[in-house]
Amino acid sequence: MDIVEIKNLSYAYTHETIALQDISINIKEQRKIAILGANGSGKSTLLQHFNGLILPQKGSIKIKGTSVCKESLYDIRKILGIVFDNPDDQLFSTTVYEDVAFGPRNLGYKEEEVEKAVENALSLIGIEDLKHRQPYNLSLGQKKKVAIAGVLAMEPEIMIFDEPFSGLDPYSLQQFIYILEKLNSKGRTLIITTHDVDIAYSWADECIILKEGKVLAEGSIDLLEDEILMEEAKLKTPNLYEVFSNTSMRPKNINKAKELLTKLFKKEN
Ligand SMILES: Nc1ncnc2c1ncn2[C@@H]1O[C@H](COP(=O)(O)OP(=O)(O)OP(=O)(O)O)[C@@H](O)[C@H]1O
Ligand SMILES: [Mg+2]
Repeated sequence: MDIVEIKNLSYAYTHETIALQDISINIKEQRKIAILGANGSGKSTLLQHFNGLILPQKGSIKIKGTSVCKESLYDIRKILGIVFDNPDDQLFSTTVYEDVAFGPRNLGYKEEEVEKAVENALSLIGIEDLKHRQPYNLSLGQKKKVAIAGVLAMEPEIMIFDEPFSGLDPYSLQQFIYILEKLNSKGRTLIITTHDVDIAYSWADECIILKEGKVLAEGSIDLLEDEILMEEAKLKTPNLYEVFSNTSMRPKNINKAKELLTKLFKKEN
């Protein structure tokens, strides 16, 4: 069964602002999906349908066979966690600890389980030192990490991150990608939105490309190598693809590229 089934989903904020038009997508379990698209293409609006923050005006969205509607919100949010792009929308407690504890408490964890889940999440994302700080006066990247820890503490089956990479320093970004790999290897389905075609190319299995509220293309991450498609989506082909496009080699990450080049130079010498 597909873990996410979206059928003919449309959403307009106003008559003039049609954000989503007739979106139909299916997502299989345990995949790493990147949703890409230019500014205003509908990525965040689409994500807000996943946990019912926005309910469909037309069409439907099902998570593990359950339709997202007012009545199913509690059950849906047990199996699906989202970190939105603006952490200020998600942080409201007086301390980081309390913010991260909110989700597990809401799921009915006992207090000692809450403590364990919070400590684990804070240590995983490397922000134990912020535990007693007030979220509202943290830096943007720190707030982002707190919001991410809030979802990690619940370890839902499906984890969704809206623009998770923006605002993270290079070390934190690498750590976060490592965490995502671990979560995926433990069976989690991961969905991210990003403009960063280079990270998407190296990280995701599959992509969904949006343009003006419609699905322009979906399928293997190799779609990002299609220059005409990328131009139409107002994106660009990944840097590694650019470097290797005149060869038959298609390394998707720096380590793979290094490996290939080392082999090549060894042969030549
Ligand atoms: N709260 C809102 N009220 C009215 N229009 C909105 C609202 N939120 C988004 N829109 C509009 O809906 C469309 C889709 O916006 P959305 O935020 O989903 O795009 P996005 O792909 O996430 O963009 P970005 O890459 O900039 O984050 C845009 O035209 C946007 O102006
Ligand atoms: Mg957005």
